[in-house]
Amino acid sequence: MNLRIPGPTPVPPEVLEAGARPMINHRGREFAGILDRVTNRLKEFFLTKNDLFILTTSGTGALEAAIVNTLSPGDRVLAISIGAFGDRFAKIAKIYGADVVPLDYEWGKAADPEDVRRALSSDPAIKAVLVTHNETSTGVTNPLAEIAGVVREFDKLVLVDAVSSLSAIPVRTDEWGLDFVVTGSQKGWMVPPALAPVAVSDRAWEANAKATMPRFYFDVGMAKDYLSRGQTPWTPAVSVFYGLELALEMMAKEGLENIFARHHRIAQIVRDGVKALGLEMFADERFASDTISAIKVPEGVDGKALQKLCEDEYDLIIAGGQAKLAGKIIRIGHLGFVSEEDVRSALDVLAKALPRLGFAVPAGGSRG
Ligand SMILES: Cc1ncc(COP(=O)(O)O)c(C=O)c1O
Repeated sequence: MNLRIPGPTPVPPEVLEAGARPMINHRGREFAGILDRVTNRLKEFFLTKNDLFILTTSGTGALEAAIVNTLSPGDRVLAISIGAFGDRFAKIAKIYGADVVPLDYEWGKAADPEDVRRALSSDPAIKAVLVTHNETSTGVTNPLAEIAGVVREFDKLVLVDAVSSLSAIPVRTDEWGLDFVVTGSQKGWMVPPALAPVAVSDRAWEANAKATMPRFYFDVGMAKDYLSRGQTPWTPAVSVFYGLELALEMMAKEGLENIFARHHRIAQIVRDGVKALGLEMFADERFASDTISAIKVPEGVDGKALQKLCEDEYDLIIAGGQAKLAGKIIRIGHLGFVSEEDVRSALDVLAKALPRLGFAVPAGGSRG
């Protein structure tokens, strides 16, 4: 089976095996050692010296942590949204009582840092900016360094959803001045779902001291206190910690820059293959993501039928469109434990499946 959704992603067999080890005392010395090593290694990937905590939750829980730990009800926040996950981040802020100022873009486009500058200069009451680095629903990567640069000029907080980018696309937490950065284990980290590492800057801690949104499970103050004793406040997903320790070792061996280069190379194979098939990418090409490709379903083809055919007859699992894009795009995930051959074989399946649904693929198929 070729699992080509943007998460959960395939897990290397040795990491799966590591996850099958017996349970240990999560308040004992052995777990304290694992927690310490994994936390420090993750900081290398976040490119940060900030505090880092590993929450047991999916990515959405970590987005909630970013909001409730830094804001108070009534605080004005600028919520940049280029798709379904940007909308989700804004929704969480709204539910907790933030005064959300939306900065929405047509899906498929990236955010423009100049719009962020305009929004911040015209509304000095804004305290924080929410931004999705890599919008998984549309296959677009926002220019995060530039956006964060603008936010820094205005000295606001920048809270970043890096769930489907961190580990695969550069996120330079300290260099770019990112205040609360969130990722999820089931994306580029080659482990199962359940852990969500978050990095918290000094500025975020200052905001935390004044933030009055209700919080309990996701209280990073509590996480800091427990981490100083080699523990997490609540029972952690111990098995996923075992796997993550090994996956991080494998990633360190490959090297961060090599991992970024591999993702870029593989994504380019997908983008070239999509064109060779006579298809069109959904994303603005200048901002097309290196971890997930959204592809327009051609006129006359039923997107859901295409997904089903790929799965039932070719063992290829791809994702469909979310929300208003349901049936209009298909999405191929290429993050984490992924090789050139994985995506080439996915493209070959599309070359076989599309003609069966009435779309004529150019001669040469996905390989041009
Ligand atoms: C960009 C982004 N943000 C947030 C999430 C939510 O993460 P989870 O489904 O792990 O809660 C996802 C997951 O697909 C994502 O891709």
